[in-house]
Amino acid sequence: MKNKGGIVIIGAGIGGLATALRLAPMPVTLVAGAPMGQNNSSSWAQGGIAAALGKGDSAEAHAEDTIAAGGGLVDRARALHLARNGKRQIDWLTELGAPFDRDDQGNPVLGREAAHRVNRIVHADGDGTGAVVMNTLIRHARATPSIDFLPGWQALDLDVAEGRARAVILAGPKKFARLPCTAIVLATGGLGQLFSCTTNPPAACGDGLAMAVRAGARLADLEFVQFHPTALATGRDPLPLLTEALRGDGAALVNAEGERFMEGEHAQAELAPRDVVARAIWRQLQEGRKPALDTREIFRKKRNRFPLIRAICVEAGFDPAQDLLPVAPAAHYAMGGVAVDEKGRGSLDGLYACGEVACTFVHGANRLASNSLLEALVYAEAIAADLAQDGAGAPAGLEDCPGLSQGMEAGKEPILRAQLRQLMYDRLGLVRDEEGMREALRQLAGFAGAIPPRTPLAAHVLVASMIALSALRRPESRGAHFRLDHPKPEEEARHSFYTLDSFRAAAAGELGRPWPGAGI
Ligand code: SIN
Repeated sequence: MKNKGGIVIIGAGIGGLATALRLAPMPVTLVAGAPMGQNNSSSWAQGGIAAALGKGDSAEAHAEDTIAAGGGLVDRARALHLARNGKRQIDWLTELGAPFDRDDQGNPVLGREAAHRVNRIVHADGDGTGAVVMNTLIRHARATPSIDFLPGWQALDLDVAEGRARAVILAGPKKFARLPCTAIVLATGGLGQLFSCTTNPPAACGDGLAMAVRAGARLADLEFVQFHPTALATGRDPLPLLTEALRGDGAALVNAEGERFMEGEHAQAELAPRDVVARAIWRQLQEGRKPALDTREIFRKKRNRFPLIRAICVEAGFDPAQDLLPVAPAAHYAMGGVAVDEKGRGSLDGLYACGEVACTFVHGANRLASNSLLEALVYAEAIAADLAQDGAGAPAGLEDCPGLSQGMEAGKEPILRAQLRQLMYDRLGLVRDEEGMREALRQLAGFAGAIPPRTPLAAHVLVASMIALSALRRPESRGAHFRLDHPKPEEEARHSFYTLDSFRAAAAGELGRPWPGAGI
């Protein structure tokens, strides 16, 4: 029997908005905790959208680069599907009015980013692609009558019965409510905020993953967290990003001795895969060599090419045309997430995931630069096509949800959160080892035992613990997961999958005692 209600999309970044627009005129309810365009990674994206549009480029070559970067874990067929859809997504956004940067002949200007063998990145407003695309989607979404926004409500949990998603539990300013539905599209973004150094906005705490796994969904490859090599090391939280496109345009990485250290590290030097560059910078930092990005020539010659970066630098007290910019790696993108098939369907009936919260297996162990916005767009279209085939009921109204409560001693939460984030950066950051990961899991179990259930922090501890366990149980180095005690990849590449039950069982096995139940 079908549930009552319609389609609910949780999250209003590129994945959520593109799904809603692709579904029109089918009605959808869109739940986003923050005002549109705020507090989501999409709007902050400085890179662009990878698409094989250049002369001599091809979808096959784009897919090959995606596969080569992904450490043996990229699904070939899906990578090819992604690459073949690049032009289609750019055309769609262009039809919606997204003003991509073009040359005098009207062709998109194609930039270069790490591990792409050719110039393949479509930008808008130089380094403002995310904001430009988001503004375009927001404008259309606001003018689309089939999209019903629920401002002021935050998704807390998924209500699932007999393996089927039936409702979303929401928290409003004063009460809780239940929104019945036939399908849920999770588009809640990433989890970089679980680490003390990150480029992600405050909302990127893995909440969607916690909702999905508590409801019984299967998560995959959580140990693969990509660190962006060049965050501007200002001490701010989050750290401002210095886009890879700068290195694509010739910016060099140098240290305090003036050495261009990437030349000795990799044949592609500054344009080596992201994990390679990030670890090289990390080593420079450990040795006290003060790694920095030299953008001086770019900003002297092309004053207006990177307006956002210029503003970020000036705000932080640097002149990118005169100063070397100190850099540090920062948590940037989660390759793992809710395991989905090629149509974006998760392991529960009626549950879909799109964008960073999903694991589509196109990024493998290490995402190729500027493939993430493309992935969100491609899967939004696939999800909409699948939902349109099934049809959906009429949207239901909010139902009261008495008896629910959520709470935490207000004073305690920021302290625990800061401890959690530092622990994750120190023990599950760019360079890991068994002792550090075990210690992290032990401390996280302590947090889980101390935190009231159904609090935001409990969700973050759960996701952090799942990252720690997945990482501990991968005795190899692969892509973004680098272990000092196992520096080589194993012969056979494998994915890791966990449900809440298998996580609890495996964590209990590692700890030698049950995983504390309360803080889930
Ligand atoms: C960047 O602009 O360097 C980031 C692009 C991305 O994360 O794909």
